[in-house]
Amino acid sequence: MRDQVFPHRHLLGIEGLNPLEINHLLDLSERYIALNRGTHKTSDSLKGRTLINLFFENSTRTRTSFELAGLRLGANVINMQVESSSVSKGETLIDTAVTLNAMHPDVLAVRHSDSGAVKLLADKVNCGVVNGGDGSHEHPTQALLDALTIRRRKGRLSGLVVAICGDVLHSRVARSNFHLLLTMGARVRIIAPRTLIPSGIERWGVEIFTDMTKGLKDVDIVMMLRVQHERMRGSFIPSVREYFRFFGLDRAKLAQAKPDALIMHPGPMNRGTEIDSDVADDFERSAIREQVELGVAVRMAVLEVLAQNNAAYSAEAATGAAK
Ligand code: NCD
Repeated sequence: MRDQVFPHRHLLGIEGLNPLEINHLLDLSERYIALNRGTHKTSDSLKGRTLINLFFENSTRTRTSFELAGLRLGANVINMQVESSSVSKGETLIDTAVTLNAMHPDVLAVRHSDSGAVKLLADKVNCGVVNGGDGSHEHPTQALLDALTIRRRKGRLSGLVVAICGDVLHSRVARSNFHLLLTMGARVRIIAPRTLIPSGIERWGVEIFTDMTKGLKDVDIVMMLRVQHERMRGSFIPSVREYFRFFGLDRAKLAQAKPDALIMHPGPMNRGTEIDSDVADDFERSAIREQVELGVAVRMAVLEVLAQNNAAYSAEAATGAAK
């Protein structure tokens, strides 16, 4: 039987999910936090199931997090790191998907440097697909783990003022977070230099600032983004020094936020570019380590739901075929 609240076959993005579905995934994740903190970190809910991590783009924490999530649920986990050659990208993607699909995985966790590539792949396979980050489009499990971190520290999402600061233009983390936070009733501000603000962003219903001191005034959450040098063709920032001076989070700028404002960063951090070590490592204020911890719990919940739904979809397809 498909999950009653989250009946979808794939998790490709946060866009389109409703508050009930989001809360359901967060509630399921909560159950795994204690398991992950205990000595015996295993459950057998995915015993006999197969998870393939298919990463066309480098990743350490996200891939490790999916891998641990699968292993802790008792699944068989395979990791594939595929170099995406720019010439044969489309072909490689579809070929790889069709090949892997023939091996009957239950869930594929996929990361790709092109926006939309994970959806393209999901259309070609008959297993569940979770988007581990596609280009600058979406990174849904990151937004869910951010939401879980905020919900646990602040007790809610609704009504909070969240500042998302830095390289918004290239950030799938920012996009998934906009969808999630706005859907859950939070207020979102973006703070970035003009060159790193996507055009048309006003339509999202976020407030835009180009000055950290003004933008951080009285916010509940300060979410910093990595400056994504690898996605920048051309010069978007004058110099690291200048960037840090105006947009890097340090004590002085943080003083504008609420006294109990939470500091977040999806990692990996460029210390001294977008964030000062002094605030990143202040574990009273910074939830950066907690984000990594909760990421495993969130991915366990997502894998469990998708594997359950996949079994139901496969059974329906088999019944349909038999008729
Ligand atoms: C993010 C990503 O890959 O999109 N990192 C992550 O998943 N931990 C953010 C980033 O790379 O800046």
